[in-house]
Amino acid sequence: MLAPGASLPQRSQAGQTVLELAGVDAFYGKAQILFDLSLTVGQGEVVTVIGANGAGKSTTLNVIIGKVKPAAGEVRLDGRPVNDASVEAIVSKGVTCVPQRRRIFSALTVRENLDVGGYVRRHDKAALKAGLEECYELFPVLAKKANSLGGVLSGGEQQMLAIARGLMAGPRVLLLDEPSMGLSPKLTVEMFEDIRRIAQTGRTIVIVEQNAYAALSVADYGYVLENGRVSLSGPAEELIEDDYVRQTYLGA
Ligand SMILES: Nc1ncnc2c1ncn2[C@@H]1O[C@H](COP(=O)(O)OP(=O)(O)OP(=O)(O)O)[C@@H](O)[C@H]1O
Ligand SMILES: [Mg+2]
Repeated sequence: MLAPGASLPQRSQAGQTVLELAGVDAFYGKAQILFDLSLTVGQGEVVTVIGANGAGKSTTLNVIIGKVKPAAGEVRLDGRPVNDASVEAIVSKGVTCVPQRRRIFSALTVRENLDVGGYVRRHDKAALKAGLEECYELFPVLAKKANSLGGVLSGGEQQMLAIARGLMAGPRVLLLDEPSMGLSPKLTVEMFEDIRRIAQTGRTIVIVEQNAYAALSVADYGYVLENGRVSLSGPAEELIEDDYVRQTYLGA
């Protein structure tokens, strides 16, 4: 377990660092939301950022994807600074964000939603076909409902569609913003099993979640975000046993 500002331990199971925030400050207008935030994500790793409502989790993803520009510090992809890169440039480097509250297109069919997700690689027909097959294999219900409108899907199915739409872009780094939001406990468990299966494909995944237990259960490494600051970090299996985390986030 680490105090804020302490250097991060070597993570033996993690591959090469893919994504890094180093000392990031971020603001909305005059309000500072993130304070000296540092985190590291290795190739193929599942990293979670857990925290309460308003802690700055979505803002952290917005910084990674380039929507919010850090006022201080650095965002690095494959070791190179991307502070000044546009969202499009970061997406084209293989990062995709599945936003909070899903935002699928309710007036489009499931298949059309997936096609929209694949737009960034529309010229690579073979990759799109393989992507669609993968999505249908991961989420068979989406294949069954390919011609149904997004808006008539259940909450769980809409979350599957949102993730599948993200996968259609062919990301190597997938950012998931509160995938459990609005799902029943049973559906949350199933959703995280699906996320585990996606992780097994070798993709690098960052999950931000209020549901600390679910997220730590699938993650390799976790960060606890409190009022825009990392208050603790460590291997997920250690955080899940940590007294402070248990009392504050796991209702123990
Ligand atoms: N566009 C915005 N303009 C101004 N303030 C914002 C904006 N978006 C978020 N905030 C504020 O920034 C703080 C952090 O918000 P953020 O959405 O990152 O939190 P979060 O951890 O994702 O919370 P939640 O679990 O509710 O999604 C909150 O106080 C929020 O009110
Ligand atoms: Mg949020």
